[in-house]
Amino acid sequence: MGEIDEMPNLVVDANIQSALADFELPTELGFGRVLVPVMYRCDYADGVWQSGHLGALEPLSISPAAKVLQYGHQVFEGLKAYKTGLNAPQLFRPEMNAQRLASSAERIDMPCVSTAHFMQAVEAVVKVCDAFIPTESGQSLYLRPYIMGTEADLGLGRSDTYTFIVLASPSEIIQKGTMKVLIERERSRVAIGGTGDVKLGSNYTAGIASARRANEQGFNQSIWLDPESRKMIEELSGMNFFAVIDGELHTPALLGSILPGITRDSIVQLAFAMGYKVVERSINIDTLLAQIGSGQCREVFACGTAAVITPISEFGEYDGTRYPLAEPEGIITAELKGALVDIQEGRAADNFGWAHPVIG
Ligand SMILES: Cc1ncc(COP(=O)(O)O)c(C=O)c1O
Repeated sequence: MGEIDEMPNLVVDANIQSALADFELPTELGFGRVLVPVMYRCDYADGVWQSGHLGALEPLSISPAAKVLQYGHQVFEGLKAYKTGLNAPQLFRPEMNAQRLASSAERIDMPCVSTAHFMQAVEAVVKVCDAFIPTESGQSLYLRPYIMGTEADLGLGRSDTYTFIVLASPSEIIQKGTMKVLIERERSRVAIGGTGDVKLGSNYTAGIASARRANEQGFNQSIWLDPESRKMIEELSGMNFFAVIDGELHTPALLGSILPGITRDSIVQLAFAMGYKVVERSINIDTLLAQIGSGQCREVFACGTAAVITPISEFGEYDGTRYPLAEPEGIITAELKGALVDIQEGRAADNFGWAHPVIG
C-alpha cells in the first residue's frame, strides 16, 4: 500500500502525569523488561491515521478475531535514546528505522507511517520519558514502535483498521559479555523470496524453538544459514554477523533474506573510515570454521541495536562439536565497538551525522 499519511494531531492525554507520578527506575533493568508507564497510540480507520495520543500505558481492547491475533499481521522496530553524559537525549539514525518500518508495512500491505509521523511519535515518547532514561554507559531507553492489524475478521486479507504504538523500556545491552552460538543446520528462519529482509513479528516466532534448543545445550543463540544451500551464514535471530578474517572485516551480503541492520551499516561505514577492508559476500560456515581452526579468523561478532556489538566466543553443533574463537574480545571488535558506542553515547564527534538530539 505504502501511502503517505497526513501528519496526525498529537493529543496529550490527561492521565499521563498520574501514570508517571509513582514510577521509579529499578536498579536491575535487564532488556525490555521494565516499561515506562506511558505509550503513544494512533489508530488508522477510514483510510487515514487519526489523532495520535500520548497517554498512560494501558491494556488494549481488541477483538479476539483481530487480524494480528489470527495471522500475526504486525511489523515493528527497535531503536534507542541515549543520555549518557548528555544534556538532551539523542537517537541514533532514527530515520532509518522509520524507513525500515515503512518497508516492512508495505511488504504485508499495511498502511505505512510516514517518517515525519514516526519521528513525532518517537520524540514525544522520549521527551515524556526524559527523567527515566538511564545514564550509565551501555544503558539507554529502548523504543519499540509497532503497527498491527486490528480488524475483526477471520478471513485472510488486509485489515481495514490498524494501530501504531510506541513503547519505551529503560534497558541494558541485551547480552552482556560474549556469547556462544549454535549453528542451526536443520531449520530455516526465512524463505527465498520471503520476508527476511523486513521486520515482521512472525519472522521472530519462527526462531523461538531453535533458541530454546540452543539454550538447552548451553548456547545463548542460534545462527541461521541460508534456506537454499544451508551453507551460507545469514544472521542471528536479532543481530547481523561479522567475521574478522586476516585482518579484514567480512559480513554476509544483503541478498534479500537477512535484515539490513542499521548497526551493520554503521559498522561497515565506520570500519571503512578506520582504514579496514570491508567485504560483503556469502560466507560459507564450514570454510569459516576451518579458518577459525587455522587461526586465520580469530574474532567474530554479532551486532544490532539491542546487542550493540557482542563478541562470539564459540560456535557449536548439535552433535557436541565446539569451535572456540582464539580472541573473542579481540582488538578489532573492541575498536569498532568503542567507536560506535562513543558516537551513540555522545562522547565522540559525530562525523557521519548519525546522532539525532531530542530537544525540548
Ligand atoms: C533479524 C535481525 N537482524 C539484524 C538486526 C540488527 O538490526 P539493527 O542494527 O537495525 O538493530 C535485528 C534487529 O533489529 C534483527 O531483528
